[in-house]
Amino acid sequence: MKLLISNIKTLVQVEETPRKWVAGTDMANLNCIDNAYLLIEDEKISDFGRMEDMPNYDEMEGFDHVEEIDATGRMVFPSFCDSHTHLVYAGSREIEYTDKIKGLSYEEIAKRGGGILNSAKRMHDATEDELYEAAMERIHEIISMGTGAVEIKSGYGLTVEDELKMLRVIKRIKETTPLTVKSSFLGAHAVPAEYRGRQGEYVDLVINEMIPLVAAEELADYIDVFCDEGFFTVEETDRILNAGMKYGMRPKIHANELDYSGGIQVGVKYNALSVDHLEFVGEEEIKCLKGSETMPTVLPGAAFFLNMVCSPVRDMMNAGLPVALASDFNPGSSPSGNMKFIMSLACINYKMLPQEAVNATTINSAYAMGVQEELGSIARGKIANVFITKEIPSVEFMPYAYGSNLIDAVILRGQRL
Ligand code: NIG
Ligand code: FE
Repeated sequence: MKLLISNIKTLVQVEETPRKWVAGTDMANLNCIDNAYLLIEDEKISDFGRMEDMPNYDEMEGFDHVEEIDATGRMVFPSFCDSHTHLVYAGSREIEYTDKIKGLSYEEIAKRGGGILNSAKRMHDATEDELYEAAMERIHEIISMGTGAVEIKSGYGLTVEDELKMLRVIKRIKETTPLTVKSSFLGAHAVPAEYRGRQGEYVDLVINEMIPLVAAEELADYIDVFCDEGFFTVEETDRILNAGMKYGMRPKIHANELDYSGGIQVGVKYNALSVDHLEFVGEEEIKCLKGSETMPTVLPGAAFFLNMVCSPVRDMMNAGLPVALASDFNPGSSPSGNMKFIMSLACINYKMLPQEAVNATTINSAYAMGVQEELGSIARGKIANVFITKEIPSVEFMPYAYGSNLIDAVILRGQRL
């Protein structure tokens, strides 16, 4: 199977030599080729360059069956990598949405048995098939919006059986979608009601029962904990990460969304792949991240939806750090997996340049979910997950036209969908 996309107005995010991430002032640079071609063979990107340098494929051996797309006026981007979602869930939570409009805080809603515990109740009542069907609708939606790789967390089960149920659904999604999927075990997302006042016992359950079973069925790539004020402490996070790491799950955690929780420090201590949310980041946190292998990941959808303070993204970039962006797609704090809108929020609310936002949703978010060697840019040998835009005047137009669907065609693993 060969697919040639020719006359591309701009081929975005090209790399001759793939990088592991883009950091600091480099984030404002986006490598592009104007008037370009892209050749895909089987599932992979095999070549690209300027139209005037394009080999005469018509006359080359083995090129008699090439599908061709003329992309005149249109751009080609590498698909978004969405490195943080909770998109397996049952039902929706618009009642809390109204409560929030009326002024209740996230913590107040959680205390009243809403929030994560509300989703846990519904998760318990749903069958694996129902969860799978509902999640696949979201999967199809994010594919149509340009996502090519997604990380999905458990964490609405909160019992041994229901956490396993959720993770099995994620596994089934992995096996049945062309998207690249990574899974994270987030048993420590909230303390279930029946463990109220006995949080330590719930942590023991996560460590002694859940983690070994999750590992035995090979259901999770990463171990996550909601390390924050009112949820899990640094000490508890430390124990859970240690337990997960013994089974080969690298940490990738929720940190510093509600306070200076120490989550970033404990994440970096255990070489977390990413620390996510990061509304509360000061000099100490930035110093801790510097020189680490941990990707600071910001979730503008959750901050927008909950009306929270913005993470100091500019301070992090000025300090030379890389920054990734993800959707946090979940029913409570970010009911959308629209990565193009995430870019718009990043530009408007965090004052990121469009180029920085593209780097943060492609190369850097690929790193944040451990797929940077195969995805996140247009590079030879990488998986051919790309999208073709409608006719647009510039790269900046993507986040600028924040409410418009600008995607014309999606190609995943070399197949046009
Ligand atoms: O990432 N912060 C923790 N967990 C989710 C919220 C999940 C929910 O409210 O259902 C988040 O925002
Ligand atoms: Fe989250």
